[in-house]
Amino acid sequence: MAVTKPSWYLDRRGIEMAKVTFIEPEGRVVEVVGEPGQTLLELAEEHGVKMGSACGGVCACSSCHCWIRSGLDTLEDMEDAEADRLDMAFDVRPYSRLGCQIHVGDEDLVVEITRESLQTWYNEHPEHRPDR
Ligand code: FES
Repeated sequence: MAVTKPSWYLDRRGIEMAKVTFIEPEGRVVEVVGEPGQTLLELAEEHGVKMGSACGGVCACSSCHCWIRSGLDTLEDMEDAEADRLDMAFDVRPYSRLGCQIHVGDEDLVVEITRESLQTWYNEHPEHRPDR
């Protein structure tokens, strides 16, 4: 049976948009709709999702490390630069990617933020630390 997306998945031009579900290590789940071409990091920042970005999204760290829980096979292949940066990350898994290097397409994704990425986000936003 085909699954039909609800109308709110269509933008003003009627172009289908992807739903991205972010899962934060602390358990919060945030569902958003991404613009085609937008990176996961841009989408996370736009919606207050706790994805770290020590280098500002230029593939020069690994703080946006995330696990793609669903939709991995729909993503563009990893470039060498992303693979090199992931080598610096903690707890790398076969479904690890860097949020700043993944562009939203028209397929839904489920993205789990790593503890490493959360820690960087708290370093960038100390006012939100739960232990303050
Ligand atoms: Fe630094 Fe993605 S934010 S590699």
